[in-house]
Amino acid sequence: MDPYARLEVDGKQYELPIVVGTEQERAIDITKLRGQSGLITLDPGYKNTGSCESAITFLNGEQGILRYRGYPIEELAEGSSYLEVAYLLIRGELPTRTQLDAWVEGVRYHTMVHEDLRQLYAAFPKAAHPMATCSAVVAALSTFYPEDLNPVDPAQVHASIERLLGKFPTITAYSYKHSIGQPFLYPSNRLSYVENFLRLMFGTPCEDYEPDPVVARALDMLLILHADHEQNCSTSTVRIAGSSRANLFASISAGISALWGPRHGGANQQVVEMLEAIDHEGLTGKQFVEQAKAHDDTSRLNGFGHRVYKNYDPRARIIKQAATDVLERLGVTSRLLEIAVDLERIALSDEYFIERKLYPNVDFYSGVIFKALGIPTPSFTAMFAMGRMAGWIAQWLEYHQEPGNAISRPRQIYTGPTERRFVPIDER
Ligand code: CMC
Repeated sequence: MDPYARLEVDGKQYELPIVVGTEQERAIDITKLRGQSGLITLDPGYKNTGSCESAITFLNGEQGILRYRGYPIEELAEGSSYLEVAYLLIRGELPTRTQLDAWVEGVRYHTMVHEDLRQLYAAFPKAAHPMATCSAVVAALSTFYPEDLNPVDPAQVHASIERLLGKFPTITAYSYKHSIGQPFLYPSNRLSYVENFLRLMFGTPCEDYEPDPVVARALDMLLILHADHEQNCSTSTVRIAGSSRANLFASISAGISALWGPRHGGANQQVVEMLEAIDHEGLTGKQFVEQAKAHDDTSRLNGFGHRVYKNYDPRARIIKQAATDVLERLGVTSRLLEIAVDLERIALSDEYFIERKLYPNVDFYSGVIFKALGIPTPSFTAMFAMGRMAGWIAQWLEYHQEPGNAISRPRQIYTGPTERRFVPIDER
């Protein structure tokens, strides 16, 4: 007999099936619970709730394991490229050489944005945050491709996937160029995905721009590390938006907004601002770590802690090493990296962090390396979005390919007033 959990309420028993994943994770399947018992479950923040079954990314937070489609993140970071990983996440298998060439060609063909879309930037203030601009411009892509928005038409969805992957680096670079008042370059399709982005960010029409291969390789690896992370806040947002049958651009735009917050992708910017503040204010690592224990959202140790990892985030380990290597290869030292390493050492031996199993997460060292690579601080989270684009798309597609998928619509336990009579305004 298949395993089940037994629930007893008001003397009545309900048997709930146990679902087992390929990595032996177990869940109680409550899909029929309300129909049978009238009860719902309550789990604010979804700390115990699986929202779907997924074959894309496996994460074991206790052991610090992360795999895309079964492949360890360490091996992909070492030997793959971002567009190859995007193919793996979206299509499910590693591509052959011919498949990869066709995939890269398809994405590359779409790097340019519509001339009228470029005009949109002029409407944004120079100080606009890149995440606001990117979210708005991605939403605006829906206005340029009305004939390709049907979320259940594979050919139309494919066109949107190539457009998103192709155009997002351009959109990100333009959000920076606009902020500093420099002209927008057109993409150069002779360059690789990341080299093209670097040129759009840092090139000008006045001079040739040759991307530094050390910088390009490091950035490509960072995109791989950010490419997916199962049902995190922004990915869940993308799936939920998609469940209403909103088009892919609209769903991803919602995901970009969700990623922006400091508890999620926005933490990479917060970390570097925190390290700079520690440096400017002359605080010691110990003093700052003490402040971070204050149970006050404004004084948390940014880049530490994770809903799922109760161990070292494997991405943070790779990024820490990469930050050290890249700085060495570029021949620069980083005061921020020194402060970060010191904070990590102090926090990891502090009872407060040990007890709560708080370790560095992906954002703790990523800002340091982005900064070393020349990325401006306000654009850090847009870099995260550029990497996560592949995962968002893969997860959105997986949702749409699920037979009988339903709109995401959680329920609630109402705690407001019970029925009462309306009182006209003059009688109140
Ligand atoms: N500094 C100090 N205390 C912390 C921190 C931190 N960074 N993170 C968690 N805690 C404490 C928290 O106060 C709570 O203590 P207590 O049990 O005494 O009330 C306990 O640890 C558990 O924290 P939580 O907030 O209930 O955990 P959560 O799973 O709801 O939140 C988190 C996870 C990532 C939002 C949180 O750890 C955090 O705010 N970290 C800092 C922001 C950050 O680095 N975010 C990036 C997350 S990883 C990449 C990404 O998703 O983008």
